[in-house]
Amino acid sequence: MKETIGFTSELTTVWSFPQRGDWATHNPQYRGNFAPQIARNIIEMYSQKGDTVLDPMVGGGTTLIECKLLCRNGIGIDINPQAVEIVKQALEFNHHPKTEQTVKLGDARNLSFIKDDSIDLILTHPPYMNIIKYSDGKIAEDLSNISSLPKFCDEIEIIAKEFLRVLRPDRFCAILIGDTRKS
Ligand SMILES: C[S@@+](CC[C@H](N)C(=O)[O-])C[C@H]1O[C@@H](n2cnc3c(N)ncnc32)[C@H](O)[C@@H]1O
Repeated sequence: MKETIGFTSELTTVWSFPQRGDWATHNPQYRGNFAPQIARNIIEMYSQKGDTVLDPMVGGGTTLIECKLLCRNGIGIDINPQAVEIVKQALEFNHHPKTEQTVKLGDARNLSFIKDDSIDLILTHPPYMNIIKYSDGKIAEDLSNISSLPKFCDEIEIIAKEFLRVLRPDRFCAILIGDTRKS
């Protein structure tokens, strides 16, 4: 397994990663995945070893790979079965001490299998509306198939309410989202 080299914690509010981290099983193949430095900085800053971190739009699994490396328990959910398989493979490396990494097929709008006030950190990265289509219109619940901004915002609001329910009081939620531009 590749060592975590070239990682320096960010100390200011402006972060720049000229080179994407490629340690452990991280790679840029999952379209639109975030640089592992983002996940690592957020997890180190806003959680402790043994905490439970949730990423309910886990994509290629960047968050869970970092959870495993940083000794946090991780819960990753994605609406796309292909993503779930990719994450399971990406987590196939040894790391001690052992943590629990759970990967599930599911919808971020319905986290009913997670108890109220049970999550220490939420770190997630929704589709930027339909800029990248993750399921080519085949999965109705996939947010990247939505082309109306008000509809997209309504769905994000449902997700935000679930986040508020499952997140322990006074803990943190980090959402990475980019611009959507037309014309
Ligand atoms: C930008 S990608 C996440 C990339 C991830 N941060 C990574 O580093 O690989 C967004 C993900 O959200 C998923 N997604 C879209 N709608 C969803 C929904 N309703 N519930 C759960 N996941 C959803 C897509 O399948 C896609 O994998």
